Amino acid sequence: MYSSKITGLGYYVPENVVTNNDLTQWMETSDEWIQERTGIKERRWIDPKTEDTTAVMGAKAARIAIERAGLTKDDIDFIVFATLSPDMYFPGGGVQIQDMLDMPTIGALDVRNQCSGFIYSLSVADQFIKTGMYKNILVIGSENHSGGLERSTRGRGVTVIFGDGAGAAVLSRCEEEGKGILSSHLHSEGKHAEELALMGPSTNRWVPEIIEANDPDDTSYFPHMNGQFVFKHAVVRFSEAIIEGLQANGLQKDDIDMLIPHQANLRIAQFIQKKFELANDKVYNNIMRYGNTTAASIIIALTEAWEEGKIKDNDLVVLAAFGSGFTWGSVVIRW
Ligand SMILES: CC(C)(COP(=O)(O)OP(=O)(O)OC[C@H]1O[C@@H](n2cnc3c(N)ncnc32)[C@H](O)[C@@H]1OP(=O)(O)O)[C@@H](O)C(=O)NCCC(=O)NCCS
Repeated sequence: MYSSKITGLGYYVPENVVTNNDLTQWMETSDEWIQERTGIKERRWIDPKTEDTTAVMGAKAARIAIERAGLTKDDIDFIVFATLSPDMYFPGGGVQIQDMLDMPTIGALDVRNQCSGFIYSLSVADQFIKTGMYKNILVIGSENHSGGLERSTRGRGVTVIFGDGAGAAVLSRCEEEGKGILSSHLHSEGKHAEELALMGPSTNRWVPEIIEANDPDDTSYFPHMNGQFVFKHAVVRFSEAIIEGLQANGLQKDDIDMLIPHQANLRIAQFIQKKFELANDKVYNNIMRYGNTTAASIIIALTEAWEEGKIKDNDLVVLAAFGSGFTWGSVVIRW
């Protein structure tokens, strides 16, 4: 059995910075409220005048990751692409990226696990490498939230939190014993699916039905989030996923060199940091600058932490996520 390790990382965020104060042109909110509740200062939102889309951003991040892995597009055997905001209802965005990168006709798998998308994708890619089926897999997370958020006071509870961006990792066969991905754990609890969801348009609520109803009070085509309910579950599930990952490898919390939590809310990350008694330099957060970029958030944070020299050879890196579904999980890596 082989193991897998991350050999290349990259990210791309749109240039357009939207500060908390900028949001007040559309809704009643304040920099103070947003920072106090979430830690977010600004986020990137695609400027519609640019070429950026979910797939385009994913392809931009992927090019960087492939180059940093010392590979070319022709070395990639498979694509795993995570998003909740694809350019098209179908097909999924993985095939768009295969085309944009002018890759051979390799397989492209789309993953629909929202904020846990990167954890799920990494785990899937790890299994393909472990069995020897593939050698180099491109794992991408990308989101264009801004186009679908409700820019009004009615939507402010959700809108202020989310940002656009993409991250990519190349996962490669690892020959060194004890290195690379040590474990991944994945969970879901579908009874809470509607607590954080976008209900329509869907096959339960097709577009003609929405148009015909023409109901100004219909918010089903905007994301809905029961914020406090999500928060309460997040802090519990994040902790469980981290403990599960550590226990599976016979490790303790003191062994963690770097924890990269999904960037859902700085208060959630701070709660986890306190619970695991981790020093400030052992948890990486960038939600202040990007908001919640869902499937892209962990890869962007991981890339930045790595670029800043905060992840070194042999470090124990723990990735953990929780989100819509509910889904959650962790990946433990010996770098
Ligand atoms: C969304 C979240 C920041 C909201 O914070 P909260 O303290 O729970 O706030 P509430 O939703 O209870 O709203 C409190 C008040 O602030 C108001 N409010 C909501 N959004 C606001 C905003 N952007 N600006 C100003 N006021 C706002 C509400 O209308 C409410 O007013 P009321 O008391 O007069 O009715 C918080 O619940 C959260 O972070 N939840 C987890 C979200 C998450 O992690 N999501 C992603 C998972 S992957």
